Amino acid sequence: MIRFACPKGRTRETAIGALAAAGLDISPLHRDGRSLTTRLTNPSGDVEVLALKDWDLPLYVERGVADCGVVGSDVLGEVDGDLLVPMRLVGSRCRFSLIGRAEATHEPRPGAQVRLATKYPKTARRLLASRSWSVEILPLSGSVELAPVLDLADLALDIVETGGTIAANGLVEIEVLEAVEPCFVVQRAAYQRHRTILNDWFARMEAAGVST
Ligand code: PRP
Repeated sequence: MIRFACPKGRTRETAIGALAAAGLDISPLHRDGRSLTTRLTNPSGDVEVLALKDWDLPLYVERGVADCGVVGSDVLGEVDGDLLVPMRLVGSRCRFSLIGRAEATHEPRPGAQVRLATKYPKTARRLLASRSWSVEILPLSGSVELAPVLDLADLALDIVETGGTIAANGLVEIEVLEAVEPCFVVQRAAYQRHRTILNDWFARMEAAGVST
């Protein structure tokens, strides 16, 4: 049996679509219920699907409780751990962007000291390392857009998908920094154990056009 870690958040539909593209019967996942585990029966072996919070998912895979799963590159970029990422998936069009108040139409002046609110401190350091201005990171766990609105921060670095949240709060996207994509992740030892089945899944997913 393969254990698959499925995110509950914005990447859930992409993850389930990937399993369908791999040839699995995903209909049990569409039945109502509060169970956090769902068994999919499959000719080459059953698959148990775990419903996990996106931020908890990498730990389940890294510790080998789940063999593989799908998680956004946004989350993956913040956690420690050594997971294989054999495939990135076509999902919603999300990106990391630098966000500011309406009057902040371009990036800060060279030498400026900028207060930056974000849920993604590691990513912010990586993406802004070579700027001519420096950053004081203010780590938040949500509603990040409120920080520049109320002057807790000068700027925010956050995910933008439709742009609806920033527009509704009178903010602007100053710069798109990086695409955020759903990643298929596999635990190293699990890949050795289930190589034949997983490679078959990957070939089917590629043929179905769900990988980037
Ligand atoms: C993300 C992000 C923005 C919003 C962007 O929040 O932090 O708030 O989505 O999407 P949009 O461009 O389509 O409006 P998420 O829903 O992940 O939850 P959070 O507010 O708890 O961070």
